[in-house]
Amino acid sequence: MSNSVEKKSGSILGIPKPDTNTISETLNQLLADEHVLYIKMRNFHWNLVGPSFVEVHEFIEKLYNQTALEIDMVAERIQQLGHAAAGSMAEFLEIAQLKEASGGKKDQTLAVRDLAEDSDAMARNIRKMISEIDEKYDDPGTVDLLIKVLMTQEKNAWMLRRYLG
Ligand SMILES: [Fe+2]
Repeated sequence: MSNSVEKKSGSILGIPKPDTNTISETLNQLLADEHVLYIKMRNFHWNLVGPSFVEVHEFIEKLYNQTALEIDMVAERIQQLGHAAAGSMAEFLEIAQLKEASGGKKDQTLAVRDLAEDSDAMARNIRKMISEIDEKYDDPGTVDLLIKVLMTQEKNAWMLRRYLG
């Protein structure tokens, strides 16, 4: 909640309220993609089939645990900016850019490739978010968070592709 000085000045954390609307919408879009990715990772962790099952199964577990932490940071940044986070799967699916994967057995190569491509897509989206926020608004806190998430996605894309040879 903003204090009375901030209410009068029409800002949150010193950032003009209209700017926080747009930044929060952007962060909610990232939150939605992270949830689609999180569920897909759980799905592949369970349904994976292939000769490196144990290793990939455990690696994906690390990825979804890390994604859960990022989800929390993004949702809490939205709160800090005075807005509400999207919270239902229906809302997430409506605004997410990533596509879900259906359940059922999944070949390990296809699973790993799918996750690597999602990390690439996330990285492309986040780079756009960073340049837009950096150019239009004075919110280095959000930019810093986005850079952390971007670097995680870039690292994940690299590590996942190593399984593909
Ligand atoms: Fe498990």
